[in-house]
Amino acid sequence: GHMPYRDGDYILLPRGTAWRFEATDPSEFLFIEATNDAFGLPNDTQSAGHPSINPTSFEVPRLDDKFRAQQDEAYWEIHIKRRNAISTLTYPYNPLDAVGWQGDLSVVRLNWRDLRQDRQPDQPVPPAAHSTFVANRFAISTFVPKIGEGESGTLRVPFYHSNEDFDEFIFYHRGEFYSRGNIKPGMATFHPSGFPHGPHPCSYQKTMIKVPVETDEVAVMIDCADMVNIDESIPDGAEWKAYVNTWEKAKETL
Ligand SMILES: [Fe+2]
Repeated sequence: GHMPYRDGDYILLPRGTAWRFEATDPSEFLFIEATNDAFGLPNDTQSAGHPSINPTSFEVPRLDDKFRAQQDEAYWEIHIKRRNAISTLTYPYNPLDAVGWQGDLSVVRLNWRDLRQDRQPDQPVPPAAHSTFVANRFAISTFVPKIGEGESGTLRVPFYHSNEDFDEFIFYHRGEFYSRGNIKPGMATFHPSGFPHGPHPCSYQKTMIKVPVETDEVAVMIDCADMVNIDESIPDGAEWKAYVNTWEKAKETL
């Protein structure tokens, strides 16, 4: 089927599903592949007592006029990745030609805006992040804007921590991330397991001592049971070597 997408969407593509993107504007994607695995939804334990993802928030593709409009009798290729090699199937027609389907195996779309829950005065503080998708060796969580954290009567504990079992990768999608002073949208951080970390000094001053009533950050966190490796093949390197210095005294990093 046909499914439009927008900024801030998760698009979940089940393994073995033929798909293609037709972008009308330049689009950048964070691509997360569950190699030799499959994505599932978090259970109540993994969502720390907060409501987990509601599948009724998922949008599925539609067999609409735009879907049918792409069908023709030109030659189309489907590229199949297996064992890190690509095989190509060639069709004398567009093979995305379904006329219907049964069951719940489908591409689905979920936007971070569907995860946002504005806090009511009598509700507890919203979770730091929403557990969104899980695989056997990693989990994906979403940081979304929060309202109400800085209201009086709310106790905010600085969340310095150390993940002993997971490497922590966070991609910053938009907004000003409340714990990071030098991180901009499009960047990512990687904190290996066993390394204590938490708010940068300048962020501590800005958002921990005077907690904002509303935050605007959106980020994707991938907690990995397997070690994260940095791609060393990129010519100028993917790593910002000075990142470690962002925990120096606030006056030196502001
Ligand atoms: Fe962390």
